[in-house]
Amino acid sequence: MKIELNENKVFFNNGSQKKEIHPFWLRERVDGEEFLDKGTQQRLFDPTSLNSDISINNASINNNFLEINFNDGVNSKLNIEKLALDFFNEDTVIKSIGKSKWNSSLNNIKNFSYKENFFESKEMYDLLISFYKFGFVVISEVPTHDNFIVKFANSIGSVRRTNFGEYFDVKSKPDPNDLAYTSLHLAPHTDNPYRNPVPCIQLLHCIENEVSGGFSTLVDGYTVTEDLKNENPDFYKILTEVKVKFKFIDKEVVLEDWSELIKLNDDKTFKQVRFSPRLDYVPMLDKEKLDLYYKARKKLSEMYNSNKYRVEFKLAPKDLLMMDNHRLLHGRTAYETKEGKRFLQGCYIDYDSTEGKLRHLKRKFNL
Ligand SMILES: [Fe+2]
Repeated sequence: MKIELNENKVFFNNGSQKKEIHPFWLRERVDGEEFLDKGTQQRLFDPTSLNSDISINNASINNNFLEINFNDGVNSKLNIEKLALDFFNEDTVIKSIGKSKWNSSLNNIKNFSYKENFFESKEMYDLLISFYKFGFVVISEVPTHDNFIVKFANSIGSVRRTNFGEYFDVKSKPDPNDLAYTSLHLAPHTDNPYRNPVPCIQLLHCIENEVSGGFSTLVDGYTVTEDLKNENPDFYKILTEVKVKFKFIDKEVVLEDWSELIKLNDDKTFKQVRFSPRLDYVPMLDKEKLDLYYKARKKLSEMYNSNKYRVEFKLAPKDLLMMDNHRLLHGRTAYETKEGKRFLQGCYIDYDSTEGKLRHLKRKFNL
């Protein structure tokens, strides 16, 4: 990528193409101290109030700086490297971390350990990269006192509070409003598919685990989606097209949201899965379409529940599991309450937390 000049016009040349940069695009990026606040990097002027007939009277390039005199009398010296960061039309930091497909053969699951100043360390950066690659990480040695999970969440970003509270205790209890609060086997599912927006990331912190069962289970919805696309394209297609209603009710609230079971981005790449077959309601479509939909959902459920895709591991006290609720499904094997205590605490954060932290650490460590 190179900046070139010709008759008071500025061009960028990416090797194969040369395009003119709009003078207004450059004008709204002037960064002298009367135009840009140093600390916040926020504009001190409103570009929508500028004359739209901005043109360039004179331009030159000196040592990685583009010097421009605009026709409204403003002169500016723009850092070319900094300008180049704004050429892209989408995020390049998070998207550049490729997703790794994984299945039951995945090992080395517990690979991070909590220590002092963890949230500002290079290890935290590595953890976040690993999280975006695999959709989850497990951190050992996380303190368990005083609902530390909330502090943990707020040290990455901000807790996403729901009607289950700022955080929730996962242990079997009488008269539960969700199957999570029983000791039953929990099949792979995503959390809160009825919420708008669906919480992005779940944190689960093990406080006590004395029972022999109660293993945590994870399935990569991304891997299953990619395999379904290759093996059963008709099933994949209908599950990416039909929107279903997810619903949760209790005494205080009625939550509903509509989505495809497999949601794609505009460019047809993987975006999100939702799966919770006790809470989904497909609309009354043509019989033939529903016939295909039900076969496709059954196949998807078989894949989510098969041994091929599931990893199982036991969380020990102080282990904290952080998982992508838009990508992974999670569950639990049954346990016997008579054997002892099993006590986990959970909470949610959203992608702004992990993305904001990752970009900050990338800046801090010059990575
Ligand atoms: Fe859950």
